[in-house]
Amino acid sequence: MRALSGIQPSGQLHLGNYFGAIRQYLALQDEHEGFYFLANYHALTSVADGKTLRQWTLNLATDYLALGLDPDKATIFLQSDVPEVTELTWILSTVTPMGLLERCHAYKEKTARGLSPNHALFGYPVLQAADILIYQSHLVPVGQDQKQHIEVARDLALKLNNTYGELLTVPEPYILDSTAVVPGIDGQKMSKSYDNAIELFGDEKAVRKRFLSVVTDSTPVADPKDPEQCTVYALFKLFATEEEAAELAAAYRAGGLGYGEVKKRTAQMMLDCFAEARERRQQLAGDPDYVHDVLREGGRRARTEAQKTMERVREATGIPIHYTPTV
Ligand code: ADP
Ligand code: TRP
Repeated sequence: MRALSGIQPSGQLHLGNYFGAIRQYLALQDEHEGFYFLANYHALTSVADGKTLRQWTLNLATDYLALGLDPDKATIFLQSDVPEVTELTWILSTVTPMGLLERCHAYKEKTARGLSPNHALFGYPVLQAADILIYQSHLVPVGQDQKQHIEVARDLALKLNNTYGELLTVPEPYILDSTAVVPGIDGQKMSKSYDNAIELFGDEKAVRKRFLSVVTDSTPVADPKDPEQCTVYALFKLFATEEEAAELAAAYRAGGLGYGEVKKRTAQMMLDCFAEARERRQQLAGDPDYVHDVLREGGRRARTEAQKTMERVREATGIPIHYTPTV
């Protein structure tokens, strides 16, 4: 089974990215063949500055490695190192009903937030489908917000297969209930673009400060509180064992517990949880050549797989290529 997923290099990695996505990549890389990439073509819909995009791309690749994605187990690569993916996007577009894209929430949400309502943003799910389908992926580990996009990929694989014969594997989303939606400091879904994120590799002081600014209600310290209504408790649960979570829930209900205390404790748990990764990240940041080498090798492997799919797709659709440059 092949697992594939990607993240846009469009800002700093946060807790939602880790618990919603990357932790599953790490769990899957031992049992499955993993393909994990950086969605830089997708990031162009929100980052219109080449220097920034290049820097964020290197940062995200460094983050992947620091968190434990292992180039000996998984293929780690840049979306743009496989330009065939844009070719498949076009071919998939020819079987993409407008209505299917019109129903996608992400376009409406992103334009409402001020992103330019252009063709790339509207067609974004088709490129995402190509990302998944070109590698014949079976499993796609993501957070809940991406579920609809995986359904689009499934629909398009079925449509292309119906039209031209069995060309593409129909993928399944892999979404864990417990971390499907990680809340941000305002209680909404944590996101790079909502200014509510807790950055994974932010400096220690900034991390602690961010936890202190998690929004809570005004129940006095002495009163009983409902843990299930509390964002701090939801964040605490990410790091806690079941017993620790049950103990804290009981303390909430008993009263006498202040939110500030839980915030400080959770910040410390996060710093402990990522202590090793933070150290590794510092080392890797001093060796960008190594990171580029990993991406180069990943790109080679990924492109080889993509070319196999494209040969069959070109053959079936009647789109030949007459000239292949030899370098
Ligand atoms: P963002 O919304 O911050 O831009 P991305 O769209 O780059 O995040 O998401 C990358 C991966 O992280 C996706 O698989 C997405 O589902 C997951 N993810 C992002 N935010 C969250 C969250 N708050 N809870 C759970 N998963 C999330
Ligand atoms: N759209 C995803 C996000 O914003 C990123 C992404 C691009 C992706 N292509 C993908 C995720 C393919 C999984 C599979 O988070």
